[in-house]
Amino acid sequence: MSKKIIIAIDGFSSCGKSTLAKALAKELSYVFIDTGAMYRAVALYFMRNHISFEDLNAIENAIKEIKLHFVFNDTTGKSDMYLNGENVELAIREMKVSQKVSEVAAIAAVRDFAVAQQQAMGEEKGIVMDGRDIGTVVFPNAELKIFVTADPKIRTERRFKELLATQPNITREEVAENLTHRDLIDSTREHSPLKQASDALVLDNTNLNQEEQFTMALNWAKERINA
Ligand code: DC
Repeated sequence: MSKKIIIAIDGFSSCGKSTLAKALAKELSYVFIDTGAMYRAVALYFMRNHISFEDLNAIENAIKEIKLHFVFNDTTGKSDMYLNGENVELAIREMKVSQKVSEVAAIAAVRDFAVAQQQAMGEEKGIVMDGRDIGTVVFPNAELKIFVTADPKIRTERRFKELLATQPNITREEVAENLTHRDLIDSTREHSPLKQASDALVLDNTNLNQEEQFTMALNWAKERINA
């Protein structure tokens, strides 16, 4: 049996990280974890329960009430996010959550809560995890680290088209503003900011289609698995 590795995929919002991670996991029969979904679920819980993002005491108490788990969905080929037993996969993708999630993901107590679970999920290896700090903080020893980038205009266009399917009233301007806002908070926050790990391989997919970037990443993965 071939060696199992950890594949860490990081990058800015809407770079196609999850699409790539999902395809790699399927090809390698690995587990795929979209860590952004965990921060989104925590943000949703805080919003529903009116937890102030400034009230550390309330945040710590709220976290104790949160149970997150993933359940594989055969139709989408990826796992749905469950928050305290409820499937919140659609709710966490709504713009009102996207507008708040970066603030929630910047809170140290929230990151500690999410990172501990992510590290436990990787204990057996055979995992593809995407996020912002996977190669730098969650799995600094991952065998393969990929940092995905793309031109912001292309990212806006891709995200806009994707969101139109479920949110027909969304505007391109709203999507562009949200991406800029999240990139700024994600890369300048104090705790585990988004940054390229020194040993990450950069994959700029501005001019690549999904198939081309998948082939590139799969070759990198095979090199590591067979090393
Ligand atoms: O990947 P995404 O857009 O669903 O992520 C939602 C938010 O969570 C985004 O603003 C960045 C944050 N995030 C993070 O800080 N660390 C991660 N490992 C994954 C996501």
